[in-house]
Amino acid sequence: MKARNASEQGLMRKSGIIAARALKRALESIKVGVSELEVDKAVEEEIYKQGGDLSYKTVPGYKFATCITVNEQVVHGIPTDRKFESGDLVSVDLAVMYKGWHTDSAWSVLVGKDAEKEKFLKVGEQALWEGIKQAVDGNRVGDISHSIQTTIEGAGYSVVRSLVGHGVGRSLHEDPEIPGFGKKSTGTVLKSGMSLAIEVIYTAGSPDVVLEEDGWTFSSSDQSLGGLFEMTVIVGQKEPEVLTDWRKA
Ligand code: MF3
Ligand code: CO
Repeated sequence: MKARNASEQGLMRKSGIIAARALKRALESIKVGVSELEVDKAVEEEIYKQGGDLSYKTVPGYKFATCITVNEQVVHGIPTDRKFESGDLVSVDLAVMYKGWHTDSAWSVLVGKDAEKEKFLKVGEQALWEGIKQAVDGNRVGDISHSIQTTIEGAGYSVVRSLVGHGVGRSLHEDPEIPGFGKKSTGTVLKSGMSLAIEVIYTAGSPDVVLEEDGWTFSSSDQSLGGLFEMTVIVGQKEPEVLTDWRKA
């Protein structure tokens, strides 16, 4: 991937703000009795209201604003009329296209309270921020991967091997691939201005996932909890710039 110039970074920044606001709205809407499709609709409305477009419409055969996964589901869940229940672990993945520039983001939350599931979420979030810290000029993709793997496995959880983070910008998925596992000082060298979707895709049990009958949803092979944390960042000289931080939206 080529580094983004200043005007391209400006457009990606705007795209990221739209994604952050949409993700914030999605997370605020997740409550007992609310359905996945209702969350998807709220996200779609928010993205259009902010002048963005649905990046996932660029994926052949896909027509939703989000992917939503619950409990043992890990990624690519199609929003359905399933209603959330207390104890559900819900992940929302969404991407925005603004003037042709894509940003991608995801977050997981718990409906209700459960100390063990809250710990699972804390570790995933921590792995994301630790991985993001590595997105600086001169580092390599493996530095991000290794950092994510160390945090997740250090807590006794597993990184999914068959699904990875990725470059993002002109399209939703660009090179390089950014696995959540790997060795330090290996892989593509990072340059200031590169735009990356860093993803932590993990489970509380087996690292293996299986494709459900709907042809989209991947679930953990052992029915253990799946979690998903993703932010789009621009690689920086000293520190990365996070474009999709919903906590600041
Ligand atoms: N954000 C997802 C990823 O990077 C993309 C989902 S594509 C869809 O893997 F078609 F499933 F929506
Ligand atoms: Co992604």
